[in-house]
Amino acid sequence: MRVLLHTGKGGVGKTTLSLATALGAARFGHRVFVLSTDAAHSLGDALGRSVGAAPVEITANVVAQEVSALEELDRSWSDIQSWLRELLRDETNEMLAEELLVFPGLEELMALRAIREVEATGDFDVCVVDCAPTGSTLRMLRFPDALRIFMEHLFEWEKKGVRLLRPIMRHLGSDRLLPREEFFDAFERLYRDVEDVRQILLDSDRTSARLVVNPARIVVAEARRSFAYLSLYGVGTDAVLVNRLLPGSASSGYFARWAEREREELHEIEESFPVPILAAPLERVEPIGVDALRGLADRLFGERDPAGFYSRVRPIRLRKRAHRTVMEIELPGASKEEVDVILAGAELHIRVRDARRRIALPASIEGREIESVRLTEGVLELLFSP
Ligand SMILES: Nc1ncnc2c1ncn2[C@@H]1O[C@H](COP(=O)(O)OP(=O)(O)O)[C@@H](O)[C@H]1O
Ligand SMILES: [Mg+2]
Repeated sequence: MRVLLHTGKGGVGKTTLSLATALGAARFGHRVFVLSTDAAHSLGDALGRSVGAAPVEITANVVAQEVSALEELDRSWSDIQSWLRELLRDETNEMLAEELLVFPGLEELMALRAIREVEATGDFDVCVVDCAPTGSTLRMLRFPDALRIFMEHLFEWEKKGVRLLRPIMRHLGSDRLLPREEFFDAFERLYRDVEDVRQILLDSDRTSARLVVNPARIVVAEARRSFAYLSLYGVGTDAVLVNRLLPGSASSGYFARWAEREREELHEIEESFPVPILAAPLERVEPIGVDALRGLADRLFGERDPAGFYSRVRPIRLRKRAHRTVMEIELPGASKEEVDVILAGAELHIRVRDARRRIALPASIEGREIESVRLTEGVLELLFSP
């Protein structure tokens, strides 16, 4: 099943273009499921009819659902959180504890479990996802890393468990705590769910992100960062969708100056991203309802299948070069000062601005040294010793 994730700043048109993509793809004979994981659901608003937490057919071969992340979250999580809060109080690094306790990104990640369920029905060829605004999506991608680090700690504690956990249990009074077994079971369930979702997100044979932008400076600057972050976390972007371009008729008259700025911005966008750029015009009226959204899909995709892959770049890849292994990561727009790389045992720690990622090295290069690090034309290149 093809999975298309739509992300971008609030208000740029993610919901609108997700639906246009879904309706356009259905015209190519695909059976399409559209789901929104943005807590501020608006599939219903864009369709001019209600869509809820249960799947509804909006037209032949298109089913929509607004996934409620909170409903998706296990109820036992509040228990687990109070457990953790006590457990972590003096036992681990505070940053990590905080990160996990507020579970940034967890809600959206859990909402994405819905993709798995859509796939399990076997009834759909394409799943179009209307994601939360970029920031939240990126936190979601970071979550598995944080969870993995935490799990390592947790298992260490397990080993030393008795000594460590008993005093806490006494301190809290056992009625407030889950039995140990349940706690660990719940945690493992979460871990498995997160892994499943991560597998889908990182599978570049079926999943890609589409960055939705408007032709305005700050939006583009943010989109460039998002592209790099998505790539750092292993999610490939196959196209950038530029939404709300002024029509050609605006090149003279009142909007002439705006139209000119947009052309400059569009040019900048074409230079900034190593993937195809598709553009949708500013419609005369808000594109609401199936017909209007289909029209928009035609203008955006023309003759092309919206569910196709517009670019096949793997965000993180390994190559062989003269008996050495080169790891390449697509980081368009990043500068040398913004990137840090540290090799720590079998893991690579990479920082790009405020995003951090721990990448487990494949066995074939484990234990090698990094001979050089280069950033050329938006690609970070790590050369490993033979
Ligand atoms: N190409 C377009 N032309 C005109 N209006 C648009 C276009 N794309 C989106 N809109 C309108 O802009 C508003 C925000 O779009 P929406 O898809 O809800 O953004 P997001 O999901 O990114 O927050 C909506 O009112 C929508 O109808
Ligand atoms: Mg939206």
